[in-house]
Amino acid sequence: MTKVDKRIKEIQQRIGLIWEDKKEEIEKQAQGKNLELQEIVSRKVGKGKNQHRILEGDNLLGLQILKKAKEKFDLIYIDPPYNTGNKDFKYNDSFIDKEDQFRHSKWMSFMYKRLCIAKELMHSKSAIFISIDDAEQARLKLLCDGIFGSDNFVAQFIRKNKGGSGHDSKQIAVEFDYMLCYARDINKLELKKEKVDTGSDPKYRYKDSHLDKRGKYYLRDLDYKGSYSKSLDYPILTSDGNEIYPGGALGKPNTWRWSKEKLEWGIKNDFIVFKKRASGWKVYIKQYEFVDNLDRKRERKLPQRALIDFSNAKGSTELKRILQQDIFSFPKPVGLLKYVIGLIESKNTKVLDFFAGSGTTMQACMEVNEQDQGNRSCTLITNNENKICEEVTYERNRRIIEGFTNSNGKKVNGLKNNQLSYYQIQLK
Ligand SMILES: C[S@@+](CC[C@H](N)C(=O)[O-])C[C@H]1O[C@@H](n2cnc3c(N)ncnc32)[C@H](O)[C@@H]1O
Repeated sequence: MTKVDKRIKEIQQRIGLIWEDKKEEIEKQAQGKNLELQEIVSRKVGKGKNQHRILEGDNLLGLQILKKAKEKFDLIYIDPPYNTGNKDFKYNDSFIDKEDQFRHSKWMSFMYKRLCIAKELMHSKSAIFISIDDAEQARLKLLCDGIFGSDNFVAQFIRKNKGGSGHDSKQIAVEFDYMLCYARDINKLELKKEKVDTGSDPKYRYKDSHLDKRGKYYLRDLDYKGSYSKSLDYPILTSDGNEIYPGGALGKPNTWRWSKEKLEWGIKNDFIVFKKRASGWKVYIKQYEFVDNLDRKRERKLPQRALIDFSNAKGSTELKRILQQDIFSFPKPVGLLKYVIGLIESKNTKVLDFFAGSGTTMQACMEVNEQDQGNRSCTLITNNENKICEEVTYERNRRIIEGFTNSNGKKVNGLKNNQLSYYQIQLK
């Protein structure tokens, strides 16, 4: 058994799922040959500072070239064939249909090889996002757990991709697909959080003399029913000489949220409010807009939500607007890719998409750069089946850089900060 076979077996045993692992035609063709990138100089576009490239050819070879060049990417997004059985997945030059009993096994083998190399193109702070639907979501999740490690699972985004009528399913209208996200190292990944606009949050409704520095506040019960700790269960003396306990009495299950020392600090620094209610005394923490519970300045931020809404119809309209014809089915909406790119804090993100299709990811990358004056770069790999790479992937992004007249006859300015190079993957 070779080292590679051993590795597959070990992963298969770990995740409890097996698939056939045969050499693909493209691997056989590549055996004993050199892999090269041949630039098509006539397709160079733009003179801007942000450099992007399209690699035309099989992504297994393209990924191997990037690996050999020791390239690393901060963000990888892919939208592989969903393997629905409706002529969307080609394996060894033939479409895999619903009758193929090994269709899932072939898809797993295809994805396994590519994802293993993708992992090597990530550094410790990188993330990978993979679009998928119900046809392969379950298998992809297990496969990624095996390759990236289940500890590095970040989230499974649920994307509302359509609405209204025209549902595919006979039983239940499914209007969602998914996007799995894995970190190369969950402890190092730092996805951007969403700033909370406390100004328009009605929760912050009280004002006091600290308004300028601390902002408005809301009241949070000091009394807390969670894991019990004896040290947080102590009496508090009220202004009329009463002693009160969390939950009304000493003992489980209630405690105060703050220790005795912290409470004393809170009272001294006006972070605590006592209120006499009909049921007795209550103690509250003032939760301010602009400072934390130690009076340190803070910006309120929340993690992004995994429920997203970017319609497929929008993706098709956007592409048609640029190319003036409907020649690519189901491009992802640019907004989805801008959202994904925006999850990475840096403005210098190196982005890779190796199932690029119509090249939505590159357009999104250039548009995000335009919005925040960023320097992100994008590498796309995609095959040239039906001349997609030349006539859609390249043509779309050429027009985005050079400017174009859209399907409504309106002139759209080019994004001049960019330049694009085009390469063919060759076996020599
Ligand atoms: C689902 S589409 C991606 C659509 C893309 N996200 C967009 O917004 O346009 C997948 C693309 O990957 C291409 N593809 C499939 N297998 C490939 C392979 N082995 N190497 C390179 N490209 C491949 C397909 O031809 C197709 O264009």
